Amino acid sequence: MIMIDNGPEAFGLPSAETLEQMANALWDPAPAIPDAAPVGAKLPADTVFADTDERNTIRVAVRDGQNGAAPDNLYAASDRISPEHTRSNESITVGTKTLKQIRDDFPILKEQVSGYPLVWLDNGATTQKPQAVIDRLSSFYTRENSNVHRGAHELAARSTDAYENARRIVADFIGAPDKNDVVFVRGTTEGINLVANAFVKPRLAPGDEIILSILEHHANIVPWQLVAAETGAVLRVIPCDESGQLLMSEYERLFTPRTRFVSVTQVSNVLGTVTPVEELTAIAHRHGVPILIDGAQSVAHMPVSVSAIDADFFVFSGHKIFAPTGIGAVYGRKALLDEAKPYHGGGNMIKDVTFERTIYNPAPNKFEAGTGSIADAVGLGEALSYLSAIGMPAVHQWEQELVRYGMKELSSVPGLHLVGTAPGKASALSFKLDGYEDGAVGEHLNRYGIAVRTGHHCAQPVLRRFGLESVVRPTLAVYNSPEDIDRLVKALRGLV
Ligand SMILES: Cc1ncc(COP(=O)(O)O)c(C=O)c1O
Repeated sequence: MIMIDNGPEAFGLPSAETLEQMANALWDPAPAIPDAAPVGAKLPADTVFADTDERNTIRVAVRDGQNGAAPDNLYAASDRISPEHTRSNESITVGTKTLKQIRDDFPILKEQVSGYPLVWLDNGATTQKPQAVIDRLSSFYTRENSNVHRGAHELAARSTDAYENARRIVADFIGAPDKNDVVFVRGTTEGINLVANAFVKPRLAPGDEIILSILEHHANIVPWQLVAAETGAVLRVIPCDESGQLLMSEYERLFTPRTRFVSVTQVSNVLGTVTPVEELTAIAHRHGVPILIDGAQSVAHMPVSVSAIDADFFVFSGHKIFAPTGIGAVYGRKALLDEAKPYHGGGNMIKDVTFERTIYNPAPNKFEAGTGSIADAVGLGEALSYLSAIGMPAVHQWEQELVRYGMKELSSVPGLHLVGTAPGKASALSFKLDGYEDGAVGEHLNRYGIAVRTGHHCAQPVLRRFGLESVVRPTLAVYNSPEDIDRLVKALRGLV
């Protein structure tokens, strides 16, 4: 039963009775479940995670333009997330598909875990794969498998075409000017190590400086520490404010005549903060310094154009964008890739070898020594085509609605403290729950089929900035539904 209180002044809006009738017509109450189930208690497998009347009232009020409903306007619910939509993923359109169609594309979302349908909220660690990607891997191995670039036979031509076509798809997806500006690597970690060693290290002298941000994943810290230790360079760190946004005036102040490189994430994997990459890049360029953008947590959630950012390097991992593990990409500005040294030596990257010298192939082959993950690169191309067909602007818009809904609902759980509250944040809904170890919260959620990650998330400096050693981190992707969030919140309410 939904109760609505318009307050004394309705300003021409339908009366409270009319709104209640409208809302109740849309909302047939689900079987009640205990609001405070004991930790570990098993709920019936067919339990429907209904909202309380109180929360429905809030949602309907927000939908109908009433004020004062959301505790924080930043996290107000959206038009698409309302009681009837919570039940029907068919009625939510994300670009060219409905949310139901998108969810049906990912077979693993039909898995049962602990007797419940899986709720996958560990997308920051890795994403699930659509059937199209699974099928593409299978068809590659069924019809095209061969090593690439060498061999006169038909299958070498097929696999080379598939591999180079994937490179073109990656270039288009991230707005790179040319497919040869894209180097295939194992993932973001290898990509950053490649840039640090092949491009930056040879340019460093003792006392030179590299700017990172406090938000970085260890993958964007440790490689720089390694090259700094070898060269005598030092690291400078951009701080953030309480919400998790970078302090841009501090960033400006970090530049000195010794600054040689900047490497910053586009999205924090713990706080979800989206950094102003265009501005970060423009400032670096004003100081004549090249910049790398870590796109591990951004590409799956928002449209990205390395050309619009004017980035010198951009790296990301396939497995975080619905593609296989073991594949990722580095975009590099052509002149800088030409200038960079090879990273690994071996076959495929050479034009000519004698015992006295080697002439290297131009980029990207110069950086792709040995046999790469050919099928996985093809799978990456398929994953990006899948997303492009939905439309990245629509993916971004949908996820923003989900993030706002998630933040609002989570903040209603007693004793729950959100960590990372920057406006426009992406994917991550990290939190602490009073009285519970993060690991215990994760295990409790797993008993209800809900997968979240707990721990330091390979980002200890930023957690320590907030006086923490770990958090519980649900992370969203395009296939998540309002019901996923409702189930998360319901299970958490069972703890408090
Ligand atoms: C922001 C960020 N950068 C880099 C990485 C490392 O990615 P990978 O392990 O795929 O190399 C991650 C992984 O979580 C990340 O979140």
